[in-house]
Amino acid sequence: MLATKLSRPLLNFSVKALNFKDPGNGFRPVQRFSFPLLSPCGSRSYANEVDQIGSRAVLITGCDSGFGFALAKHLHDKGFIIYAGCLQKGEGGSKELDAMKSDRMRTVQLNVCDSKEMDRAVEHVQNSLKDPEKGLWGLVNNAGISTFGEVEFTSMDTYMEVAEVNLWGTVRTTKAFLPLIRRSKGRVVNISSMMGRMGSPARSPYCITKFGVEAFSDCLRYEMQPQGVMVSIVEPGNFIAGTNLYSPERIKAIADKMWDELPEIVRKDYGRKYFDEQVSKMESYCNSGSRDTSPVIESVEHALTSTAPYTRYHPMDYYWWLRMQIMTHMPAAISDRLYVY
Ligand SMILES: NC(=O)c1ccc[n+]([C@@H]2O[C@H](COP(=O)([O-])OP(=O)(O)OC[C@H]3O[C@@H](n4cnc5c(N)ncnc54)[C@H](OP(=O)(O)O)[C@@H]3O)[C@@H](O)[C@H]2O)c1
Repeated sequence: MLATKLSRPLLNFSVKALNFKDPGNGFRPVQRFSFPLLSPCGSRSYANEVDQIGSRAVLITGCDSGFGFALAKHLHDKGFIIYAGCLQKGEGGSKELDAMKSDRMRTVQLNVCDSKEMDRAVEHVQNSLKDPEKGLWGLVNNAGISTFGEVEFTSMDTYMEVAEVNLWGTVRTTKAFLPLIRRSKGRVVNISSMMGRMGSPARSPYCITKFGVEAFSDCLRYEMQPQGVMVSIVEPGNFIAGTNLYSPERIKAIADKMWDELPEIVRKDYGRKYFDEQVSKMESYCNSGSRDTSPVIESVEHALTSTAPYTRYHPMDYYWWLRMQIMTHMPAAISDRLYVY
């Protein structure tokens, strides 16, 4: 077991990945972490797939764009009945999903911060399942938002706003749908992030929510194991260029608001030049990462369809995978020197 866990990443590992400094925005292959002993060609093994996918239903949150939107379409193509939770039903991605005119693609109005909408969504799913007693097969907690800013630049309102969606939204949705998931002995898949495994300067409002998602998922996994429900965590690396999580307009809007609301002493001590440099760094980050989100989509598919899903999936390029392992497992005196200072 331990050997498998160690060999899985290492057999896929390229020596070039041993660079310690982030090489920037150039092309970097994204690993798919196959199970090499079963599938030497590098694709994930689906040898032991759950049966009767066509009768299984999955609810995904945050399907208006990004991973959620792509997942809804991909899992629908795979044969699942999809409940696509959308923040703005009838607009954007939700409109496109409705336009598919498939009775297996069902968009649902669902703001994960709104308990009333949550209750209505549960009722809707329950009433439209063919056999509610058989429950809902999968829940994918994907909805999320992000921001940036050093601790002294970030208001308490911002900390709470991000946590309300990423962390409490995940907890609220999971609690609401667990009775249906338990009935089917199904799956919960929580979209965390590599930022749920390691901190990063100027990302504390986001990191703390994803660390929270990791802790929540671990506790839930322990509790659900005797119930036959499997819980997986997907920790994507950098796919900023492939989703709507950040855009230059959003970065500018966040930066303008942040500067306006800064306490006078912080503004004076750090100065506008330093602040603008941090915003520029974030703007360049915003164009980085992989546009191809398929490694994330494949990870979620595996977590929902394999009879032996992994606890954690790491769809990310080798640079971030190595950095995450070193930040997680090496003494901070070494990892901080390599990556932060
Ligand atoms: N992209 C990456 O590099 C990356 C890396 C690691 C982890 N992640 C995680 O992946 C997940 C999906 O993000 P993404 O990258 O695909 O970004 P995205 O394109 O912005 O997708 C996030 C989705 O969540 C929706 N949403 C926001 N607030 C919501 C709420 N209160 N209730 C329900 N839905 C809400 C958004 O709706 P609107 O579009 O209407 O705002 C959007 O459809 C997030 O949890 C994110 O933290 C992303």
